[in-house]
Amino acid sequence: MHIIAFSNQKGGTGKTTCCVNLAAALVKLGERVLLVDLDPQGNATVSVGIKLNPENPTLSEFLLGQVRIEEVMVDSYLGDLSVIPSNPDLAHVEVELLSESKSQFFLKKTFENYREVINSFDFVMIDCPPSLSILTINGLTASDYVIIPVLCDYLSLEGLSHLLDTISEVKKRLNPSLDILGILPNMIDYRLKITEESLDLLKKEFGKKLFKNGIRVCSRLRESPSFGKAIFDYAKYSTAVEDFLNLAKELKRRVK
Ligand SMILES: Nc1ncnc2c1ncn2[C@@H]1O[C@H](COP(=O)(O)OP(=O)(O)O)[C@@H](O)[C@H]1O
Ligand SMILES: [Mg+2]
Repeated sequence: MHIIAFSNQKGGTGKTTCCVNLAAALVKLGERVLLVDLDPQGNATVSVGIKLNPENPTLSEFLLGQVRIEEVMVDSYLGDLSVIPSNPDLAHVEVELLSESKSQFFLKKTFENYREVINSFDFVMIDCPPSLSILTINGLTASDYVIIPVLCDYLSLEGLSHLLDTISEVKKRLNPSLDILGILPNMIDYRLKITEESLDLLKKEFGKKLFKNGIRVCSRLRESPSFGKAIFDYAKYSTAVEDFLNLAKELKRRVK
Protein backbone atom coordinates (compact mmCIF):
# COMPACT_ATOMS: atom_id res chain seq x y z
CA MET A 1 0.00 0.00 0.00
CA HIS A 2 1.31 3.40 -1.01
CA ILE A 3 -0.05 6.78 0.06
CA ILE A 4 0.46 9.53 -2.51
CA ALA A 5 -0.38 13.23 -2.09
CA PHE A 6 -0.93 15.50 -5.10
CA SER A 7 0.31 18.90 -4.12
CA ASN A 8 1.15 22.31 -5.52
CA GLN A 9 0.17 25.53 -3.79
CA LYS A 10 -0.58 27.01 -7.18
CA GLY A 11 -4.17 26.48 -8.32
CA GLY A 12 -5.01 25.08 -11.73
CA THR A 13 -1.91 22.97 -12.31
CA GLY A 14 -4.00 19.80 -12.50
CA LYS A 15 -3.77 18.29 -9.01
CA THR A 16 -7.40 17.18 -9.06
CA THR A 17 -7.41 16.16 -12.72
CA CYS A 18 -4.25 14.07 -12.35
CA CYS A 19 -5.23 12.60 -8.97
CA VAL A 20 -8.65 11.47 -10.18
CA ASN A 21 -7.63 10.17 -13.60
CA LEU A 22 -4.49 8.49 -12.35
CA ALA A 23 -6.60 6.79 -9.68
CA ALA A 24 -8.95 5.60 -12.44
CA ALA A 25 -5.99 4.45 -14.57
CA LEU A 26 -4.65 2.39 -11.67
CA VAL A 27 -8.09 0.80 -11.25
CA LYS A 28 -7.99 -0.09 -14.98
CA LEU A 29 -4.64 -1.77 -14.30
CA GLY A 30 -6.24 -3.89 -11.59
CA GLU A 31 -5.34 -1.90 -8.47
CA ARG A 32 -7.64 -1.03 -5.57
CA VAL A 33 -7.58 2.70 -4.90
CA LEU A 34 -8.88 5.00 -2.17
CA LEU A 35 -9.28 8.63 -3.23
CA VAL A 36 -9.16 11.13 -0.37
CA ASP A 37 -10.52 14.59 -1.17
CA LEU A 38 -8.54 16.99 1.03
CA ASP A 39 -9.74 20.13 -0.75
CA PRO A 40 -12.80 21.95 0.69
CA GLN A 41 -13.82 22.72 -2.91
CA GLY A 42 -14.69 19.02 -3.25
CA ASN A 43 -13.64 18.90 -6.92
CA ALA A 44 -12.32 15.33 -6.75
CA THR A 45 -15.54 14.15 -5.09
CA VAL A 46 -17.69 15.60 -7.87
CA SER A 47 -15.30 14.45 -10.62
CA VAL A 48 -16.02 10.79 -9.89
CA GLY A 49 -19.76 11.34 -9.81
CA ILE A 50 -20.34 11.39 -6.06
CA LYS A 51 -23.38 13.39 -5.04
CA LEU A 52 -23.54 14.08 -1.34
CA ASN A 53 -26.68 14.62 0.69
CA PRO A 54 -26.44 17.03 3.65
CA GLU A 55 -26.65 14.11 6.09
CA ASN A 56 -23.71 12.22 4.52
CA PRO A 57 -20.57 12.37 6.66
CA THR A 58 -17.46 13.71 4.92
CA LEU A 59 -13.74 13.96 5.54
CA SER A 60 -14.53 16.78 8.01
CA GLU A 61 -16.23 14.50 10.52
CA PHE A 62 -13.71 11.75 9.87
CA LEU A 63 -10.74 14.02 10.60
CA LEU A 64 -12.36 15.10 13.86
CA GLY A 65 -12.90 11.46 14.86
CA GLN A 66 -16.68 11.77 14.84
CA VAL A 67 -17.37 8.97 12.35
CA ARG A 68 -15.75 5.66 11.46
CA ILE A 69 -14.07 5.08 8.11
CA GLU A 70 -16.83 2.65 7.06
CA GLU A 71 -19.37 5.44 7.54
CA VAL A 72 -17.52 8.04 5.51
CA MET A 73 -16.08 5.93 2.68
CA VAL A 74 -18.27 5.66 -0.42
CA ASP A 75 -17.99 3.49 -3.53
CA SER A 76 -17.61 5.26 -6.84
CA TYR A 77 -19.09 4.02 -10.10
CA LEU A 78 -15.59 2.60 -10.80
CA GLY A 79 -15.88 -0.56 -8.68
CA ASP A 80 -12.39 -0.62 -7.18
CA LEU A 81 -12.26 3.11 -6.48
CA SER A 82 -13.54 4.16 -3.06
CA VAL A 83 -13.72 7.77 -1.99
CA ILE A 84 -13.56 9.77 1.21
CA PRO A 85 -15.51 12.80 -0.01
CA SER A 86 -15.36 16.45 0.99
CA ASN A 87 -17.53 19.51 0.91
CA PRO A 88 -16.97 23.17 1.91
CA ASP A 89 -17.38 22.31 5.64
CA LEU A 90 -13.76 21.19 5.48
CA ALA A 91 -12.75 24.87 5.44
CA HIS A 92 -14.23 25.24 8.96
CA VAL A 93 -12.38 22.15 10.15
CA GLU A 94 -9.21 23.73 8.86
CA VAL A 95 -9.76 26.67 11.21
CA GLU A 96 -10.55 24.31 14.10
CA LEU A 97 -7.38 22.33 13.46
CA LEU A 98 -5.28 25.44 13.87
CA SER A 99 -6.15 25.64 17.56
CA GLU A 100 -5.37 21.97 18.20
CA SER A 101 -2.00 20.65 19.28
CA LYS A 102 -0.40 18.20 16.86
CA SER A 103 -2.68 19.67 14.21
CA GLN A 104 -0.38 18.39 11.45
CA PHE A 105 -1.03 14.76 12.34
CA PHE A 106 -4.82 14.48 12.21
CA LEU A 107 -5.02 12.72 8.85
CA LYS A 108 -2.10 10.43 9.66
CA LYS A 109 -3.75 9.50 12.98
CA THR A 110 -7.08 8.69 11.37
CA PHE A 111 -5.33 6.48 8.82
CA GLU A 112 -3.48 4.72 11.63
CA ASN A 113 -6.73 4.14 13.52
CA TYR A 114 -8.05 2.22 10.50
CA ARG A 115 -4.84 0.59 9.33
CA GLU A 116 -6.57 -2.62 8.27
CA VAL A 117 -9.00 -0.83 5.98
CA ILE A 118 -6.26 1.43 4.57
CA ASN A 119 -3.97 -1.54 3.99
CA SER A 120 -6.67 -3.30 1.99
CA PHE A 121 -6.02 -0.75 -0.78
CA ASP A 122 -3.04 -0.76 -3.14
CA PHE A 123 -2.98 3.02 -3.38
CA VAL A 124 -4.36 5.92 -1.36
CA MET A 125 -4.40 9.10 -3.45
CA ILE A 126 -4.84 12.43 -1.67
CA ASP A 127 -5.99 15.52 -3.59
CA CYS A 128 -4.57 18.52 -1.70
CA PRO A 129 -5.94 22.08 -1.84
CA PRO A 130 -4.11 24.85 -3.75
CA SER A 131 -2.32 26.24 -0.71
CA LEU A 132 0.35 25.36 1.80
CA SER A 133 -2.30 25.31 4.52
CA ILE A 134 -2.63 23.00 7.50
CA LEU A 135 -4.75 20.69 5.32
CA THR A 136 -1.91 20.30 2.82
CA ILE A 137 0.55 19.75 5.67
CA ASN A 138 -1.78 17.00 6.95
CA GLY A 139 -1.75 15.45 3.48
CA LEU A 140 2.04 15.52 3.24
CA THR A 141 2.49 14.24 6.79
CA ALA A 142 0.23 11.25 6.12
CA SER A 143 1.87 10.30 2.80
CA ASP A 144 4.74 8.13 1.58
CA TYR A 145 5.08 10.12 -1.63
CA VAL A 146 4.14 13.41 -3.21
CA ILE A 147 3.43 14.02 -6.88
CA ILE A 148 3.75 17.62 -8.04
CA PRO A 149 1.78 18.50 -11.16
CA VAL A 150 3.28 21.52 -12.95
CA LEU A 151 2.44 23.53 -16.04
CA CYS A 152 5.13 24.16 -18.59
CA ASP A 153 5.36 27.90 -18.20
CA TYR A 154 7.52 30.41 -16.44
CA LEU A 155 5.22 31.33 -13.52
CA SER A 156 4.54 27.71 -12.64
CA LEU A 157 8.21 26.90 -12.40
CA GLU A 158 8.81 30.06 -10.35
CA GLY A 159 6.59 28.83 -7.50
CA LEU A 160 8.18 25.40 -7.35
CA SER A 161 11.10 26.25 -5.08
CA HIS A 162 8.73 27.41 -2.33
CA LEU A 163 6.86 24.11 -2.51
CA LEU A 164 10.09 22.12 -2.47
CA ASP A 165 11.18 24.02 0.67
CA THR A 166 7.89 23.14 2.35
CA ILE A 167 8.24 19.49 1.40
CA SER A 168 11.75 19.30 2.81
CA GLU A 169 10.58 21.03 6.02
CA VAL A 170 7.78 18.47 6.37
CA LYS A 171 10.26 15.68 5.71
CA LYS A 172 12.65 17.05 8.32
CA ARG A 173 10.16 17.83 11.08
CA LEU A 174 7.03 15.76 10.55
CA ASN A 175 7.46 12.86 8.14
CA PRO A 176 10.98 11.58 7.48
CA SER A 177 9.70 8.92 5.08
CA LEU A 178 8.15 11.42 2.64
CA ASP A 179 9.64 11.30 -0.87
CA ILE A 180 8.94 13.14 -4.07
CA LEU A 181 7.62 10.45 -6.40
CA GLY A 182 7.80 12.77 -9.34
CA ILE A 183 7.32 16.14 -10.95
CA LEU A 184 4.46 15.73 -13.39
CA PRO A 185 4.29 18.03 -16.43
CA ASN A 186 0.62 18.66 -17.23
CA MET A 187 -1.19 20.43 -20.08
CA ILE A 188 1.79 19.85 -22.32
CA ASP A 189 1.33 21.69 -25.60
CA TYR A 190 4.15 20.91 -28.00
CA ARG A 191 3.06 23.69 -30.35
CA LEU A 192 4.35 26.26 -27.87
CA LYS A 193 8.02 27.12 -27.72
CA ILE A 194 7.87 27.62 -23.94
CA THR A 195 6.88 23.96 -23.53
CA GLU A 196 10.17 22.55 -24.80
CA GLU A 197 12.10 25.17 -22.86
CA SER A 198 10.24 24.39 -19.64
CA LEU A 199 10.62 20.64 -20.06
CA ASP A 200 14.36 21.10 -20.63
CA LEU A 201 14.60 23.22 -17.50
CA LEU A 202 12.66 20.68 -15.43
CA LYS A 203 14.82 17.88 -16.78
CA LYS A 204 17.98 19.74 -15.83
CA GLU A 205 16.69 20.58 -12.37
CA PHE A 206 14.99 17.30 -11.45
CA GLY A 207 16.57 14.64 -13.66
CA LYS A 208 15.03 11.26 -12.93
CA LYS A 209 12.39 12.82 -10.65
CA LEU A 210 10.66 14.22 -13.72
CA PHE A 211 7.99 11.79 -14.96
CA LYS A 212 8.75 10.67 -18.52
CA ASN A 213 5.04 10.38 -19.22
CA GLY A 214 3.46 13.81 -18.82
CA ILE A 215 -0.13 14.71 -19.70
CA ARG A 216 -0.82 16.56 -22.93
CA VAL A 217 -3.41 19.28 -23.10
CA CYS A 218 -6.74 17.61 -23.87
CA SER A 219 -10.01 19.51 -23.94
CA ARG A 220 -11.98 16.38 -23.01
CA LEU A 221 -10.34 16.52 -19.56
CA ARG A 222 -12.11 19.83 -18.96
CA GLU A 223 -15.47 18.32 -19.80
CA SER A 224 -15.38 14.98 -17.97
CA PRO A 225 -15.80 16.29 -14.36
CA SER A 226 -19.23 17.75 -15.14
CA PHE A 227 -20.34 14.25 -16.18
CA GLY A 228 -18.88 12.73 -13.01
CA LYS A 229 -16.69 10.44 -15.09
CA ALA A 230 -12.98 9.75 -15.33
CA ILE A 231 -11.55 10.24 -18.80
CA PHE A 232 -11.62 6.49 -19.55
CA ASP A 233 -15.38 6.44 -19.32
CA TYR A 234 -15.98 9.83 -20.90
CA ALA A 235 -13.67 9.94 -23.93
CA LYS A 236 -11.99 6.60 -24.32
CA TYR A 237 -10.20 7.51 -27.55
CA SER A 238 -8.66 10.75 -26.26
CA THR A 239 -4.93 11.44 -25.90
CA ALA A 240 -5.50 11.73 -22.15
CA VAL A 241 -6.45 8.06 -21.89
CA GLU A 242 -3.17 7.08 -23.49
CA ASP A 243 -1.21 9.55 -21.33
CA PHE A 244 -2.77 8.51 -18.02
CA LEU A 245 -2.30 4.80 -18.72
CA ASN A 246 1.36 5.32 -19.57
CA LEU A 247 1.79 7.48 -16.48
CA ALA A 248 0.10 4.87 -14.28
CA LYS A 249 2.51 2.21 -15.55
CA GLU A 250 5.47 4.48 -14.88
CA LEU A 251 4.12 5.22 -11.39
CA LYS A 252 3.82 1.50 -10.63
CA ARG A 253 7.44 0.96 -11.66
CA ARG A 254 8.54 3.87 -9.45
CA VAL A 255 6.88 2.73 -6.24
CA LYS A 256 8.30 -0.78 -6.48
N1 LIG B 1 -4.12 18.06 -19.44
C1 LIG B 1 -5.13 18.93 -19.41
N2 LIG B 1 -5.70 19.37 -20.56
C2 LIG B 1 -6.72 20.24 -20.55
N3 LIG B 1 -7.28 20.76 -19.45
C3 LIG B 1 -6.76 20.38 -18.25
C4 LIG B 1 -5.68 19.44 -18.16
N4 LIG B 1 -5.39 19.26 -16.85
C5 LIG B 1 -6.26 20.04 -16.16
N5 LIG B 1 -7.09 20.71 -16.98
C6 LIG B 1 -8.13 21.68 -16.63
O1 LIG B 1 -7.50 22.76 -15.94
C7 LIG B 1 -8.30 23.23 -14.88
C8 LIG B 1 -7.52 23.13 -13.56
O2 LIG B 1 -7.25 21.76 -13.28
P1 LIG B 1 -7.42 21.17 -11.81
O3 LIG B 1 -7.16 19.72 -11.90
O4 LIG B 1 -8.73 21.59 -11.24
O5 LIG B 1 -6.23 21.91 -11.07
P2 LIG B 1 -5.93 22.03 -9.49
O6 LIG B 1 -6.63 20.90 -8.81
O7 LIG B 1 -4.45 21.95 -9.40
O8 LIG B 1 -6.42 23.37 -9.07
C9 LIG B 1 -9.56 22.38 -14.90
O9 LIG B 1 -10.54 23.06 -15.63
C10 LIG B 1 -9.13 21.13 -15.63
O10 LIG B 1 -10.21 20.51 -16.30
MG1 LIG C 1 -8.00 20.85 -7.24
